[in-house]
Amino acid sequence: MRAVDIIAKKRDGQALTSEEIKFFVNGYAAGEIPDYQASAWCMAVLLKGMTDAEATAYTLHMAHSGDVLDLHHIAPCVVDKHSTGGIGDKTTFVVAPLVACHGLPVGKMSGRGLGFSGGTIDKLESIRGFNVSLTTPEFMDMLAKHGIVVSGQSADLAPADGKFYALRDVTATVESLPLIAASIMSKKIASGADAIVLDVKVGKGAFMHTIEEAEALARLMVKIGQGMGRKVSAILSDMNQPLGDAVGNALEVKEAIATLHNGGPADFREHCLICGGKMLELAGKAANLEEAKAMLAKSLADGQAWQKFVEWITAQGGDLSQLEQPETLPKAPHIETVSSQRGGYIKAMDAAEIGKTVVDLGGGRYKKGAPIDYSVGIVFHAKIGSRLTVGAPLFTVHANNSVKLQDACVRLMDALTWSFDPVAAPPHTLKIINAES
Ligand code: URA
Repeated sequence: MRAVDIIAKKRDGQALTSEEIKFFVNGYAAGEIPDYQASAWCMAVLLKGMTDAEATAYTLHMAHSGDVLDLHHIAPCVVDKHSTGGIGDKTTFVVAPLVACHGLPVGKMSGRGLGFSGGTIDKLESIRGFNVSLTTPEFMDMLAKHGIVVSGQSADLAPADGKFYALRDVTATVESLPLIAASIMSKKIASGADAIVLDVKVGKGAFMHTIEEAEALARLMVKIGQGMGRKVSAILSDMNQPLGDAVGNALEVKEAIATLHNGGPADFREHCLICGGKMLELAGKAANLEEAKAMLAKSLADGQAWQKFVEWITAQGGDLSQLEQPETLPKAPHIETVSSQRGGYIKAMDAAEIGKTVVDLGGGRYKKGAPIDYSVGIVFHAKIGSRLTVGAPLFTVHANNSVKLQDACVRLMDALTWSFDPVAAPPHTLKIINAES
């Protein structure tokens, strides 16, 4: 087989065989196929697409380019959730302990922030001492002992995806549904999950801007997972405004802690109950989503989810005193609340601009490996549909210097669109996609 023939076949719109895809994936991972040929192949896939069978084969070969964890000695069913990335998404902090306290092990590999969207690993690192770099044996040991573990992506899992992803990032080939779906699913398959809930974000602050694109991606990922014997459901959720009120690493940890104490913003709490509920339902712990949500709501109310959270964070080295006294989490030196200068309703929020503002405050990075400031960010006091009178608080900015603070305040004011007429708060959950039986 020759790489050039495989590229030409895809360029001409023909479907590749599993053997041809395997040859290409393994050849690229081993350094035998150069970047220029892999780039041409990615572009051919982006332009000509893949059949579902090709996307499934590509996922399988990427997953098997490294270790594929078998966690069945720990539990018959290990669950995972994956978010495609958004603004204010701290769902893992609540959902992982919430599900684990029902005896369903959650083993999760998470990522750092990418572009304007935050990452769970950065948020976890705002807790003093928390260890995000676990080896595969440590990951398995933590899962066996505590039924919950969240770690950074290991280099041993789906290494071909790591190489392809970095290449796609600089060759304008990220935006291909089969390439995105295979990239996400190969990591989930390699990390040993039996049941996977995909949280596919839709809107201005997400990768997928329209519900049609998001649904196509979700259906493809569900199909790939199903083809590999995994139980998969996808939730399409709104990302035209931040999830919850807080955006920024330590501020989001505080909001997650409040939610685990049975408080927190209503939209975020409901999103956690739906994601966690689908995980329980997929794993057969509840007959349907409503029953699962009721079970989880009880665990928030009786403190069991909080106890599991404390067990998890401290087992991975996190400082208990910061969980018990969240005010001791990193705190920015400049904090200012901006009030509304007009009356009316918030009609729209530019979620992407909000995410970029947090990155520019120092809470995210545009370059891989750059340091971040865990303390900075924004807490919103009003969201789409809120009715405001003059002088009512709009948002609070947490910054590490006064110039950045003022800049953020101006940008955030511009990121809001107003209406004199009442505006309905948009639904957060747009659609749930289950595997076809
Ligand atoms: N996230 C991934 O892991 N891969 C992609 O291709 C896009 C988003």
